[in-house]
Amino acid sequence: MKKKLTFLGIETSCDETAASIVRENEDNTADVLSNVISSQINEHREFGGVVPELAARSHVQNIDFIVQESLRQSKIRLEDVDGVAATAGPGLIVCLTVGYNIGKSLATFSEKPFLPINHLEGHALSPSIENKISFPYLLLLVSGGHSQFIIVNEINNYKQIGTTIDDAVGEAFDKTGKILGLEYPGGPKIEELAKLGNKEAFKLPRPIINRAGCHLSLAGLKTAVIREAKKIDSEQKRYDLAASFQNTINEILSKKTKVAMKEFNKNNYTRYKTFVVAGGVAANQAIRKNLIQVSNEMNFKPVFPSKEYCGDNAAMIAWAGIKRYKKKLFNNDDSVKSRWPLDKNAPFLKGPGLKI
Ligand code: KG4
Ligand code: ZN
Repeated sequence: MKKKLTFLGIETSCDETAASIVRENEDNTADVLSNVISSQINEHREFGGVVPELAARSHVQNIDFIVQESLRQSKIRLEDVDGVAATAGPGLIVCLTVGYNIGKSLATFSEKPFLPINHLEGHALSPSIENKISFPYLLLLVSGGHSQFIIVNEINNYKQIGTTIDDAVGEAFDKTGKILGLEYPGGPKIEELAKLGNKEAFKLPRPIINRAGCHLSLAGLKTAVIREAKKIDSEQKRYDLAASFQNTINEILSKKTKVAMKEFNKNNYTRYKTFVVAGGVAANQAIRKNLIQVSNEMNFKPVFPSKEYCGDNAAMIAWAGIKRYKKKLFNNDDSVKSRWPLDKNAPFLKGPGLKI
């Protein structure tokens, strides 16, 4: 019988300090033996967003304990893992450096291979921790920093067909949350408030909805939310604005996902078409429901990671490490990177004067 690989994964790209021990299964899924996450949300709350220096200091304070705890909970010794994987980008350099250096030191000390991992690849592969998924598949990655439609052809073979030209979906949730007086991060709180509101109450713009393929634009939506928020004179209207905002995001995602699915169909002739949604925003139940409906309509099988693997975690990093190690795909570039697109040929679509 072939040896099942076990990896230690480390994640410190933003405001979560995380470590995890993951073992591969024979059926191409994984056993997560431990998944330890220390969130810094409380430390950043009063600033309404992540403060890089505070985040880095907190990673330094916590990382030793988090790694120890992941080993203790999994009952695995460092000597027994087959490799160490750590996020090397994209993210905040001061934060990435902490996990990367610890990972590299532990790997060197224990004479194991060290694999620097792209955080976005972690998200892209996260649904296959629990589900058997075959390539190619269509991925919608929706997090605080990224919103992209990607055709996942294979590990290390990604084609970006759509991206946001301004704000990411999670960022739009967080900014709207701030406008509505909610604590950071706004996403989960807006989801709760929206349950109490009327989603038809406010008519909000859906920028570039009928053009620019499956690219997204959300900055205009935020500006409209600021304008409408000034008129709010009751608690109920606050709920209504949260519900209307979330509904507008759903309308945008619904339309753009259909465009992306058509694009996928043009290039891929697989019989079983899979639509994978990953990243922090994939935890939102209303968005899930909407995207399941779109998938049914378009004859795609929707797959979402469990909630614990939607937001930032180290299990997805360890898992990407195992997948890359098996294919001998070592990222040899020995540095952390703030920008690291999955598809290096994709055009950079942000900034003023952009024409799409
Ligand atoms: O993937 P993630 O943990 O970190 C990044 O890589 O960015 O995503 C965090 C983002 C935040 O913007 C947060 O507000 C959003 O995901 N988020 C949600 C929900 N839970 C987290 N957005 C909408 N609804 C949610 N339930
Ligand atoms: Zn993330």
